[in-house]
Amino acid sequence: MLCLGIEGTAHTVGVSIVDENCRVHSNLQDMYEPLEGGIHPREAANHHAECLIHLLNKSLEEARKGFDDIDLVAFSQGPGLGPCLRTVATAARSLSLSLGAPIMGVNHCIAHLEIGRKTTGCEDPVLLYLSGGNTQVIAYSEKRYRVFGETLDIGIGNLLDKFGREVGLRFPSGPAIEKLALKGEQLLSLPYSVKGMDVSFSGILTAALNLLNQGQKLEDVCSSLQETSFAMVTEVTERAMAHLEKEEVLLGGGVACNQTLRNMVECMAEERGAAMFVPDAELCVDNGAMIAWTGILAYQSGMRMGVEDTQINQRFRTDDVDIGWR
Ligand code: ATP
Ligand code: FE2
Repeated sequence: MLCLGIEGTAHTVGVSIVDENCRVHSNLQDMYEPLEGGIHPREAANHHAECLIHLLNKSLEEARKGFDDIDLVAFSQGPGLGPCLRTVATAARSLSLSLGAPIMGVNHCIAHLEIGRKTTGCEDPVLLYLSGGNTQVIAYSEKRYRVFGETLDIGIGNLLDKFGREVGLRFPSGPAIEKLALKGEQLLSLPYSVKGMDVSFSGILTAALNLLNQGQKLEDVCSSLQETSFAMVTEVTERAMAHLEKEEVLLGGGVACNQTLRNMVECMAEERGAAMFVPDAELCVDNGAMIAWTGILAYQSGMRMGVEDTQINQRFRTDDVDIGWR
């Protein structure tokens, strides 16, 4: 079975062709970069619309397949930015109707988890999902993926990107902050804001900018920003693992590319006798392959969608989906 998956919840639009063994035949993407300021949803959606035809053709070409070979069309149904989701859903619906292939809307957060589970070989992990818009600790329990902790305000990547924008770093700023942080020499105090199993980042952003205004070195502020925010999410993940008695932790989302984060989570896991898993970078960030693969899982579990079921859901909750494949 060949599934064509389309991702488009935020900055990235991606198209990928994946088979029932999770072999990725092609996986292409293009990212919208705002000229200045943050993401403008309408502009991002226009970007996705402009890229889609090219990405579709190119992904088939790379996979050496034709439209007729596609057995299933999957797309990111949410959560995400309305205009971006609508653009991608419209493309998926027209593709499905014109090819006569079934369609499957996929929850973006669950897709991060499923591609990680399949490609790293972990079985029943706690997923620490850290991207621009999302910060969630997710694990499986009784037919659902449940959210055990999450951000109460902005996503952790958003924290890094906003801080980066204020100090003149290019978007996305995570990689540049990681580099600067390596030269940091002292840990500065920032609000450590864990509330139960949830975290909050907006106070850290303000405090970090204040430290700069007080004359602290950018490198020191960057490393303290990383240390504090990463320690917060690591703490919540550890607690989830302890409560749920899970011995695997899986990282996902663009921030999972960060080596300091990986070291911290790995250290936590090792101390518990657990193991950490990280998908390849191109499968950590937003990508069409995770959507295609999760579409296949859903389809093979017997799930079916008519076009009437394919409305987008900007606030699509991770725990809204019945997991028929576990
Ligand atoms: P969504 O929230 O819908 O998943 P996204 O557009 O934020 O979407 P990703 O590609 O998963 O999706 O993540 C991008 C984020 O990852 C950005 O905030 C970026 O700064 C951050 N990021 C990328 N590389 C690193 C890194 N090395 N260290 C820290 N953050 C990073
Ligand atoms: Fe994502």
